[in-house]
Amino acid sequence: MSAINTSTEVILTGQVLRFDADPFVAGITAARHERQGAVRIARGKIAEVGIAETVLASHPQLPRVDYGDALILAGFVDSHVHYPQTGIIASWGKRLIDWLNSYTFPEEMRFGDKAYAAEIAERYLDLTLSHGTTTMASYCTIHPESVEALFEAATARGQRVVAGKTCMDRDTAPTGLRDSAQSAYDDSKALLERWHRRDRIGYAITPRFSPTSTPAQLEALGALWAEYPDVLMQTHLSEQVDEIEWVKSLYPSARDYLDTYEAYGLLREGGMFGHTIHLEQREKDRLKEVDAALVHCPTSNTFIGSGLFDMDGLSAAGYRIGLATDTGGGSSFSMLRTMASAYEVAQLRHRPLHPAELLWLATGGSARAMRLEDKVGNIAPGMEADLVVLNLASTPEITQRAARAEDIWEAIFPTIMMGDDRAIESVWINGQRRS
Ligand code: GUN
Ligand code: ZN
Repeated sequence: MSAINTSTEVILTGQVLRFDADPFVAGITAARHERQGAVRIARGKIAEVGIAETVLASHPQLPRVDYGDALILAGFVDSHVHYPQTGIIASWGKRLIDWLNSYTFPEEMRFGDKAYAAEIAERYLDLTLSHGTTTMASYCTIHPESVEALFEAATARGQRVVAGKTCMDRDTAPTGLRDSAQSAYDDSKALLERWHRRDRIGYAITPRFSPTSTPAQLEALGALWAEYPDVLMQTHLSEQVDEIEWVKSLYPSARDYLDTYEAYGLLREGGMFGHTIHLEQREKDRLKEVDAALVHCPTSNTFIGSGLFDMDGLSAAGYRIGLATDTGGGSSFSMLRTMASAYEVAQLRHRPLHPAELLWLATGGSARAMRLEDKVGNIAPGMEADLVVLNLASTPEITQRAARAEDIWEAIFPTIMMGDDRAIESVWINGQRRS
């Protein structure tokens, strides 16, 4: 694919939804809805957002794409995925450790083959595009080729992607899927020097999780992060009770699971911790103190049987919280399905999440978790023009329910709960229409 031309200037009209602030903090009125709105795009950025009549009148010469009653919002941001697990999504019957050993690790071994990695990277980006996801934070495999493949595919598509080489040097990971403390440091450093901030690419130092790393590897990656403080760091934390017990046996002197990262320089702002379900009070306090991000992966947490994320308690406490599919532990590539799952999980904890909160988590919330809130995840002048256009009447069952809606939230909620790729009317990436 050739480089993307971002010179287009165009006005999109339709319903427009954007956020003035985080609705968990500022309330639902932070969500701003324009029934007949417009977004003007210029050179890959959002130049203006407002009332259609006004925007059209002041730029009569520009081409217009009219989406009618469809809803224009920021493209979805998936803040924790494993693109190499695309081919093994929906694998039956295992909990975390057995699922990793039975399905994940054998598949990840294949990514030393650059051609295979490139094939899956393209497939993954095609699938996520069809679901309206424009940015993601992905784990790769231990192979640098797997990182190159994703970054090359994303760059050709003009897409903002964060990813990193997954590091595992402990004998808890299978032979053939292990690096070393030194090679993890060297390979991660070479990749981040080549890719970080190139076009729309960001690098995340990626120790898979403390059970598959030695203390020496975590220490080496902590040292690397200290050398490059503006890159991100992503890992897993407190996903399953059995996993936590395992961590305690592997790191007997650690105060808790988080301490296995903290002790080696892997806890500070810019850290993204996936799952964070069974946190102890000290862990919650430290994560808050350093302003690290928590990433909620609801379809994964139910599919692998991990537990119920405490969205109410953690959002009230003001954490940066992202929403994510965690494919292939998660059972869907769709952020609509993921929002529905987040709603159901929160209901089990007696906290019905508002549609505005769900949409925020899938856009601005995830962008904030990835420290990209000034670039993507919202519609505002100066932000990059990554947009999804939702058809709010994409199937007969959604249409008949939405027809009874008395406000915009009732009109959107059936699509959140029942929508799939048929609801994705159009996707714009970097100011270009991609579907
Ligand atoms: N913990 C360590 N690795 C993984 C992974 O690939 N998926 C999930 N869900 N949890 C993990
Ligand atoms: Zn994961």
